[in-house]
Amino acid sequence: AGGTGSAGGALTFSPVPPNVLDRVLVPAGYESAVVIRWGDPILPDAPALDVHRQTPRRQERQFGFNNDFLGVLPLGRDRALLVANHEYTNEELMFPGFTSLEAMTVAQVEVAMAAHGMSVVEIERAGRSGRWRPVRGRRPYNRRLTMLSTPFRFDGPAAGSAWLRTAADPAGRTAIGTLNNCAGGVTPWGTVLSGEENVNQYFVGGDAAPEALKPRLARYGFPVATRFPEDSRRWERAQERFDLARHPNEAHRFGWIVEVDPYDPGSVPRKHTAMGRFKHEGANVIVSRRGNVAAYMGDDERFEYLYKFVSAGRYRPGDRRHNLSLLSAGTLYVARLTGDSPPSEIDGTGTLPSDRAFDGTGRWIPLASGNRSFVPGMTVEEVLTFTRQAGDAAGATRMDRPEDVQPSPRTGKIYAALTNNVERGIGGRPDVDEANPRRENRHGQVLEIAEDHGDHTGETFTWSLPIVCGDPDDPNTYFAGYDKSAVSPISCPDNVAFDAAGNLWLATDGNALGSNDGLFATPVEGPERGHLRQFLTVPPGAETCGPFLTGDGRSVFVAVQHPGEVDGATLDSPASRWPDGDFAKPAVTVVWRPDGGRVGS
Ligand code: FEO
Ligand code: CA
Ligand code: CA
Ligand code: CA
Repeated sequence: AGGTGSAGGALTFSPVPPNVLDRVLVPAGYESAVVIRWGDPILPDAPALDVHRQTPRRQERQFGFNNDFLGVLPLGRDRALLVANHEYTNEELMFPGFTSLEAMTVAQVEVAMAAHGMSVVEIERAGRSGRWRPVRGRRPYNRRLTMLSTPFRFDGPAAGSAWLRTAADPAGRTAIGTLNNCAGGVTPWGTVLSGEENVNQYFVGGDAAPEALKPRLARYGFPVATRFPEDSRRWERAQERFDLARHPNEAHRFGWIVEVDPYDPGSVPRKHTAMGRFKHEGANVIVSRRGNVAAYMGDDERFEYLYKFVSAGRYRPGDRRHNLSLLSAGTLYVARLTGDSPPSEIDGTGTLPSDRAFDGTGRWIPLASGNRSFVPGMTVEEVLTFTRQAGDAAGATRMDRPEDVQPSPRTGKIYAALTNNVERGIGGRPDVDEANPRRENRHGQVLEIAEDHGDHTGETFTWSLPIVCGDPDDPNTYFAGYDKSAVSPISCPDNVAFDAAGNLWLATDGNALGSNDGLFATPVEGPERGHLRQFLTVPPGAETCGPFLTGDGRSVFVAVQHPGEVDGATLDSPASRWPDGDFAKPAVTVVWRPDGGRVGS
């Protein structure tokens, strides 16, 4: 693995400096190009983007907005399927003359709904380099999944439960659309998992929802105090299911892990209730030594939890039909982390305790297994649908916004981006602990988990914080003990990926150090552990998503999400003109070495 380039997968690129440039900046010796951008046609007869003539019908056939997770699934040596999440929309950057969400027409609301979801696009290597582009013409795999009209089937123990039944779906088995898809993962059997994250922001009418349901809605951030929350997207004007006063259970039909089979364009994607419902950042799967698969997952909100799902069945290489059933039944766990240093030594600044490490032990606490609940007073359907409350009951550890969580395919150790938590220890909110050691945490940290005996089906683990983010000149940062004069500043890690050599790649969202977000890489084993360097930066207002490194090591795909998302900026008055020089468009880029070498070397 790893292709050409220096042996052993060493990272030798020259880091790019922090900057506020309106471009994608890559190291010397690298090139980058847009693969696909918002509005590019992907289905037959789709027109090119024309923001003055945009319609729901057009948008349903074009690449969606705000690309986030990326998966690149092989179709042969020089062909692949690019799968992208479209997390949310920036109406102010999509519609000329935008004034307010309330003033949008119903047709514009439907455009926004069609711009959410996911895309599948066939791509090909351009020439012999690491550059990729969409394949032209009618492509059988190309597909859009949208909030307007795409059916998703529930499976697992909570499918069909009373909590999922609505007037439009009395059986509680089919939802329309997938919502606020953030990160995700590619499974060993060639499907894509995608996390439904901040689904609460699309609903109104919580004030008139059934009283008994309000605490459960509120625990997930659905507004229950007012009819029209501030900044409401007012989707109920297009489809009344977004009015909780009329359809309160519609809320529970989002917040799941969805599985999409891009190799089967006619397949109905699924929402896996066995994997629990929360603000799913994403899910990444590893096959355990026993053959059961473990999926690691974060609930991205301040003080929320880390989760693990272990399948009841075992992975069978080559038996795709069987493997497609693995995430439908199993055991759902939530994490409790305990520090090994005296709590008095965790002073809230980030100063290392006397053992020179933020580290300790942990337990995976089972919440439900098969049709059995382990949470007193909650049925299995309730544990899976109101998983946050189950985690509360289990005494799980309240983390600093768990974003992407991914096992290293090289070592099996698991890495979680804890992006930040400015409320840690502030105003009566939970105070620091050894895993979340900084008060008013603006820059976040990276958590490393090692399952005891390397067993991903087990219930005990050890953990440490290899990276405590921020400016390396800040004494309260930590880079695995590496010489801090040689590392790049990093703030707000969000997405996690690995190259074939096992180097950890981190993408950021919300750089609190004042410069643009970007992509970083560091070894996590050996003497170079903690030698973190910045590989690229994205334009102002953008967050860095994906990333995805191809198995041959020659290409890294990066999703540039919400370029130009800056207070006061609009399509007519843009803060970024990337990538085409007119107005900002979210786009997928690919970075490669023209000499064909391995990315990172
Ligand atoms: Fe959509 Fe948690 O980032
Ligand atoms: Ca310690
Ligand atoms: Ca994210
Ligand atoms: Ca984020």
